[in-house]
Amino acid sequence: MKLINVATPEEGAVKAAEIVIKQIKEKPASVLGLPTGGTPIGLYSELAKAVKSKHVDFSQIQTFNLDEYYGLSKDDPQSYYTFMNVNLYASCGLRSDQTHIPSGTAPDAEVEVNAYEAAIAQAGGLDLQVLGIGGNGHIGFNEPGTDPKSRTHVVTLTRNTREANARFFTSIDEVPTRAMTMGIQTILDAKVILLLVFGANKADILFDAFKGPVSLNNPASFLQNHPHLIVIADTAAATRLYA
Ligand code: PGA
Repeated sequence: MKLINVATPEEGAVKAAEIVIKQIKEKPASVLGLPTGGTPIGLYSELAKAVKSKHVDFSQIQTFNLDEYYGLSKDDPQSYYTFMNVNLYASCGLRSDQTHIPSGTAPDAEVEVNAYEAAIAQAGGLDLQVLGIGGNGHIGFNEPGTDPKSRTHVVTLTRNTREANARFFTSIDEVPTRAMTMGIQTILDAKVILLLVFGANKADILFDAFKGPVSLNNPASFLQNHPHLIVIADTAAATRLYA
């Protein structure tokens, strides 16, 4: 694993954008795996700037998001589709045929997750997967206990995760109870993984993920086995790694 320590999340976003842009310059038709959440917003804004200034050309890339709530329509303000549209697709001029997210309104969630996994394979697999990490070690919506061999699947969200995400909804009752997520093995199959970790509230889980054992209790710990992992962590998140 290559650890890049940055002073602030803003500096981390710039570094992460450099890595994503290098990937796209080397392979213009790159297949990117992308996260939602607070962590990647700075990266997406750096990428939008780079596209606007014609520093990079996104016209051939394909993107696959990690996850989506089941039961929310694309246009729901809280859907991950809306998040991506607002934070990346519109600002980078991505066409609808370039972007992929499991459909939260698919009539049969099981059929949808299998089709999504097949679409990733059909695109040639993920060249670069960008990831955040949840406070309990989840990656995508793969909660503690998830089978490390899992592929894209339907999950029942834990109370913990629904509470963490309730800040975006009017009340926790509105947070969907189910979601669709790439599996841990889907993520590990990416050629390169770029994990972004910012803030003191991630220091313990980051330490456990890389200094602790590989364990079902911390899904991010399975990243230890990945041959090409880059971690960008700010000083607040990385303190315990250096202690
Ligand atoms: P965050 O979420 O980026 O909003 O901290 C990360 C995650 O839960 O994967």
